[in-house]
Amino acid sequence: MCGIVGYVGNKQAAPILLEGLSKLEYRGYDSAGVAVRDGEKAAVVVKTTGRLKNLSEKIDNGKALAGTCGIGHTRWATHGVPSRENAHPHVSGNCTGSGSGEVESLVVGVHNGIIENYQELKAKMERHGYVFYSQTDTEVLIKLVDYYYKKYQGGPIDALAKTIVRVRGSYALAVMFKDHPGKIFAARKDSPMIIGKNDSEVFLASDVPAILNHTRDVYYIGNLEMAELSPKEVSFYNLDGDKVQKEVTTIEWDAEAAEKGGFEHFMMKEIHEQPKVTMDTLKKYIKDDGKKKHIDFSDFGLTKEDIEGFSQIYIAACGSAWHVGMQAQYVMEELTDIPVRVELASEFRYRKNKLNKNALVIVISQSGETADSLAALRLAKENGIKTLSIVNVVGSSIARETDYCMYTVAGPEISVATTKAYSCQLICAFLLAVEMGKVKGLIDDKKYAYYIEELLSIPSKIEACLENKERIQWFASKYSNARDIFFIGRGIDYAICLEGSLKMKEISYIHSEAYAAGELKHGTISLIEDGTLVVGSLTQADLYEKTLSNMMECKSRGAYLMGITTFGKYDVEDSVNFAVYIPKVDEHFVGNLAIIPLQLLGYYISVSRGLDVDKPRNLAKSVTVE
Ligand code: AGP
Repeated sequence: MCGIVGYVGNKQAAPILLEGLSKLEYRGYDSAGVAVRDGEKAAVVVKTTGRLKNLSEKIDNGKALAGTCGIGHTRWATHGVPSRENAHPHVSGNCTGSGSGEVESLVVGVHNGIIENYQELKAKMERHGYVFYSQTDTEVLIKLVDYYYKKYQGGPIDALAKTIVRVRGSYALAVMFKDHPGKIFAARKDSPMIIGKNDSEVFLASDVPAILNHTRDVYYIGNLEMAELSPKEVSFYNLDGDKVQKEVTTIEWDAEAAEKGGFEHFMMKEIHEQPKVTMDTLKKYIKDDGKKKHIDFSDFGLTKEDIEGFSQIYIAACGSAWHVGMQAQYVMEELTDIPVRVELASEFRYRKNKLNKNALVIVISQSGETADSLAALRLAKENGIKTLSIVNVVGSSIARETDYCMYTVAGPEISVATTKAYSCQLICAFLLAVEMGKVKGLIDDKKYAYYIEELLSIPSKIEACLENKERIQWFASKYSNARDIFFIGRGIDYAICLEGSLKMKEISYIHSEAYAAGELKHGTISLIEDGTLVVGSLTQADLYEKTLSNMMECKSRGAYLMGITTFGKYDVEDSVNFAVYIPKVDEHFVGNLAIIPLQLLGYYISVSRGLDVDKPRNLAKSVTVE
């Protein structure tokens, strides 16, 4: 949801801001803007609608804007349509036209997040004579900073602190004050923001890839904290205005990890990274003491005693991460005998839950910043319940606030449609299930060793699934004009279908539904017409016949059937029109393999429809608003 950047140093700011924004465009891409200051001169603001390239063209890739201090923004609209007026930066004073050009305003700023009480604040500001030019909550925020700065004359940090106390919602805010040339001031609550530093420059960004070409040393600014950035120094403050000391974190992965590496799209690159990143994640938690392998959670402090104390598991997550939870539910419940309930984080947070005090709440999130997942985590903590998160982005809010953070080792995921992070989340869920089952006495040594070997076999089997991609590409070209696609399965297969269907709709814009196969005949089967594509996931031996029968019911009504099953189940070809085979693996873990053809199917259909695979319409990678 929106990306923000800031730069203060000794180089021309605008090209650096554009470069940073290009790494954040996955966060929002309906409009973009920058504000740059040249010494003492007023800020020059330039904004455009559409993709970042429109802004780059307008300012000659940044060369047209002089100045070594600036802020930038790429927007995913929340309040107000995508337009130049609503694009950031916003200014505190009066502006003409769409707010572009040289602005004499006291405060110029960019914001990511949502100000929930902006209407009430807007009315207050209007009473004080402020005029608004956009429909955004951000303009209200910037004008409020201006108001407190003038009223109390306590300086930028004081004005920001007073603003923070007054607003409700989430924000990563970066502002420049006319009276403080060569400086950027920032504040944060519940929206991601990092600050990077080298010897002569300081950077600010919503995410690490935006600054990795310049530094690996970053600071994580905490909730309700503020920062003052100048070329050689960055200082942090709490709400009382007292300085806060912060440790530098060195980012381990390099800028290349966030580049396309020869693939046409990030999504395809990330699909192909799955063998490596699933192995990296497995290796992080499976240790070999020379005699035997075992799962080791000492990295995040989850002990045998902790596990023994859990009598209920709740999983809360959104989108694909929720699909991981759906799959984990089947596997965990079966291997641990602990009841597991999975809920969409957006529902969990508002339901009047009667939470079991001996429960473990697991929150799954790639970004670690998803607003609903973060709220679910906080709700669990308020109820005194232990929390464990499965998170990809190191140092993100969910990672920091949870009792136990189990990191996935997926590396930066850029494509809006998740693939490799999803696969690593599954691996973590399976590792937890196996270890918990062992601790609960339900898995003996032999079975434990077997499960570990099966898990370790997944990466090479994903590789084998990828070798089949040309067949999927061919099939996708036949179905690129489909109107509806149904994905059906039972149990774990149903959970796999949920993800396959989401992949399809989010990047191909084809309507698709995932259905529990047995449920179709209770209404949805009326949608099956001549030629409707029905994809069945058939990986569970005890449910194979049942799902196949449901697929045949669709075929009798004109459906064209694609079936995914394991090598050896060749009789499937008697029923389906197009069969895809995946390697055998223990059935609990098959989701890591069955999802590969479904990711490829979504990808190739999107490509053959000529769509923007990595940045599908209306979406953003990190959903930091409700
Ligand atoms: C899936 O392709 C989507 N990008 C989306 O459903 C995503 O999984 C969801 O928004 C949750 O994000 P998170 O993992 O960062 O919390």
